[in-house]
Amino acid sequence: MNIESVHTVGVIGGGVMGSGISQVIVTAGYRVICCDLTDEILVKTRSAIVDGRYGLKTGVERGKITAEQMENALANLVLSTRLEDLKDCEIIIESIGGGTVEVLEDRDAKLKLFTMLDSIVKENSIFTSNTSFLTITSLAEAVKRKSCFLGMHWFRPPVVLPVIELAYTPDTSEDTLQLMEAFCKSIGKEGVRVKDVPGDPGFIGNRLYRVAATEARKMVQEGIAQPEDIDKVMELGYGWKMGIFGMGAAFSSTRQEFQEKK
Ligand SMILES: NC(=O)c1ccc[n+]([C@@H]2O[C@H](COP(=O)([O-])OP(=O)(O)OC[C@H]3O[C@@H](n4cnc5c(N)ncnc54)[C@H](O)[C@@H]3O)[C@@H](O)[C@H]2O)c1
Repeated sequence: MNIESVHTVGVIGGGVMGSGISQVIVTAGYRVICCDLTDEILVKTRSAIVDGRYGLKTGVERGKITAEQMENALANLVLSTRLEDLKDCEIIIESIGGGTVEVLEDRDAKLKLFTMLDSIVKENSIFTSNTSFLTITSLAEAVKRKSCFLGMHWFRPPVVLPVIELAYTPDTSEDTLQLMEAFCKSIGKEGVRVKDVPGDPGFIGNRLYRVAATEARKMVQEGIAQPEDIDKVMELGYGWKMGIFGMGAAFSSTRQEFQEKK
């Protein structure tokens, strides 16, 4: 498959990440079928895409996109509760959560989903997972198409942040990686390759963030500095816009906000 053959992308999970991911891809001109469990959740998904903080309307107000681009993007968006609707997608992006604020990742749910998708979606389509902490090799166990399986780890908010980690397993083919790099470019993102390491999750960003956050908490416990001063140093000295504690707080509050709207 080459990038010209990609027309329709399936996004599973219309939550914090899936709504933003769907928005980026429809805005780039692809058709997106975004699936979630209920119609009620999908109403929230659509509302996040249209009226959310980083939604299409804000994009128009800030001059990032035109009103016509917004209309075209919405015309490309299909919301569905039926996995069968994904059968003709060329790329699948799994971005399901664990169902509660506390549980973000549910490996068994992802495995079950990929097993079902493997029998529904046409044979050579590419399967990706937006998981932050599960190893891609462990998820690939669920499918026969291991050469077409990889991690596609987006950053939040997907509409704003321009980098995506492409996590490859020993079975991911070079053709698959090249196609996904081209796909990232076509939606205005930079795809960065990272080797999936079973037992050591987090890819590049989260692996480094985890170390920094552990050290920052240690510094507070040892009375070396206050959280706001640590964030100030990281922000003003190293250009980490939200610092370390700020990033953790932003993560929790966005999830809380989305869950409360459900
Ligand atoms: N939130 C972040 O900052 C962030 C960043 C990068 C990656 N991720 C990863 O993205 C994934 C989703 O995270 P999120 O923050 O969007 O979670 P979320 O809870 O906001 O959204 C997940 C959505 O998946 C839906 N869902 C659950 N099971 C489903 C199923 N079987 N079929 C269809 N839909 C289903 C839920 O109803 C929910 O709407 C997780 O794997 C997470 O680790 C999150």
